[in-house]
Amino acid sequence: MRILSGIQPSGTIHIGNYFGMVKKMIESQNDGELFAFIASYHALTSVKDKAILEQNTFEAAANFLALGMDPEKSTFWVQHHVKEVLELYWILSNHTSMGLLERAHSYKDKTSRGIQANHGLFSYPVLMAADILLFDSNIVPVGKDQIQHVEMTRDIATSINHSYKQELFVLPESKVDEEVSTVPGTDGAKMSKSYGNTIDMFNTKKKIKKQVMGIVTDSKELEEAKEWETCNIYKLSELFMNEVELKDLQKRYENPGEGYGHFKLSLLEKINEHFAPYEEKRAHLLENPKEVHEILAYGASKASKIAAEKMRIVRDAVGLI
Ligand code: ADP
Ligand code: TRP
Repeated sequence: MRILSGIQPSGTIHIGNYFGMVKKMIESQNDGELFAFIASYHALTSVKDKAILEQNTFEAAANFLALGMDPEKSTFWVQHHVKEVLELYWILSNHTSMGLLERAHSYKDKTSRGIQANHGLFSYPVLMAADILLFDSNIVPVGKDQIQHVEMTRDIATSINHSYKQELFVLPESKVDEEVSTVPGTDGAKMSKSYGNTIDMFNTKKKIKKQVMGIVTDSKELEEAKEWETCNIYKLSELFMNEVELKDLQKRYENPGEGYGHFKLSLLEKINEHFAPYEEKRAHLLENPKEVHEILAYGASKASKIAAEKMRIVRDAVGLI
């Protein structure tokens, strides 16, 4: 079973990204053959700054490797290192109706938020279909907002299979993890870099402390009993503490004597403890870019072999001799 996942490169990564996506993806290496790539071509639709795109791509690679992406077990590469995807994108474009793309929610959302419509943004789902179909992917783990893109991939694959009267492409299934709940930010709303309410995974100790100390609470005094059920500190602590630790924390809320500052420090300690094992590896990778580039080149060579063979079959099927 092939699992394929594309990740938009983003430099900073917060604990919402981690519990919502990254952790599951790393764990999925045990469920099947994982193909994971950094979606650098897709990022061009929103990042128009050379230095930022380069830095984000590199940091995303270092982050995933530090967090347990295993380049031997899985195939991990940067999208633009395997150029066949663009050739397939063109072939698929000729089997993608305008109507299908016009119905894409994410395109409509982005343009309604004022992002300028251009061809890259409009045809984003075709490139995503090429990513998925090039590797005969069976399962595509995605967030809810990406389900429609996988459905569109199936439509495109069905249309082209029908045109050439053969099972040229595997029809992928999206997999949405209903269990993963939304991680709240420091203000209680969904944690998101666009809301400025994140707790970063890898940042300076000082910055992370500042973020944790900024968690919004009510204004109960030390000598008052506090409600853990509705408290943002408690909700975030649930991600890092085991049952015994949580029971203990509940008691601390219920017994007067401690303030929210104390609970924040307990959470901070757990966060630091949780990510410490990865930090060393990440620091090593950031200081040794050559090592990262070699790992990515190795991933691209593994992905290229599969892509080249698939494109040989596709070209032959459509008459590109
Ligand atoms: P942001 O909202 O900070 O811009 P992205 O949209 O780049 O984050 O999200 C990258 C991945 O992380 C997506 O798969 C998304 O589902 C997941 N994710 C982001 N924020 C959260 C959150 N607060 N809770 C759970 N998952 C999240
Ligand atoms: N569009 C996806 C996102 O924004 C990233 C992506 C690109 C992707 N190509 C993909 C995801 C292929 C899964 C499969 O999150």
